Amino acid sequence: MSSGAPFITFEGIEGSGKTTLSRWLAEWLGAQEVPTLWTCEPGGSELGVALRHTLLQTSVDPLTELFLFLADRAHHVRTVILPALHQGLWVICDRYTDSTLAYQGYGRRLNLRWLRRLNEVATHALEPNLTFLIDVPVQVALTRTTQPNRFEQESLAFHERVRKGYLRLAEREPERFRFVILDGTQPIETLQRTIQHTVQMKFCKN
Ligand code: TYD
Repeated sequence: MSSGAPFITFEGIEGSGKTTLSRWLAEWLGAQEVPTLWTCEPGGSELGVALRHTLLQTSVDPLTELFLFLADRAHHVRTVILPALHQGLWVICDRYTDSTLAYQGYGRRLNLRWLRRLNEVATHALEPNLTFLIDVPVQVALTRTTQPNRFEQESLAFHERVRKGYLRLAEREPERFRFVILDGTQPIETLQRTIQHTVQMKFCKN
């Protein structure tokens, strides 16, 4: 399914800086008078806030965890993302379907083929037009996190699998231009300039 306005997602492990950068992009677009919505997963809707709380606090088995993320996403897409895109708003989303492939697929080792299919069902096959993957070494990322949640308390090996999973997803993406991998250890101004340039080149033709 495609909609008129761009749908841009930010991905990466915890502490990669994607929330700061995605918020910055939404603010920059707003300053250019581009109608923009910033949102996130999990927790981008009212129901999502409750699901997010459960997901971050309660230990559950991988399959239950997966279905909670998918419930959050299904509701988010139907009640927030698609209505915004149909109104012509640019949507900037902090985490989306690639998080499920990286965390539940590579991290928890659930079957990637199922996950792709379930993502497709949950989202009405709505795919991002552009995804920034903010890549940082696990050791660097973890020193940036304070008050670790349930995911941040996972083992180093888990985080390494998630990081490598993201890189693999970006490499094997059939439409390779959808992913832009950024080195998250660069100064924030450099990252912002690259993001701005990429968005201008891709979506602002005149
Ligand atoms: P959050 O505090 O939002 O982390 P961050 O600021 O890094 O985005 O916590 C969300 C956690 O949920 C994060 O550790 C990644 C995880 N997650 C999944 O495992 N699968 C998913 O599909 C999504 C969207 C998030």
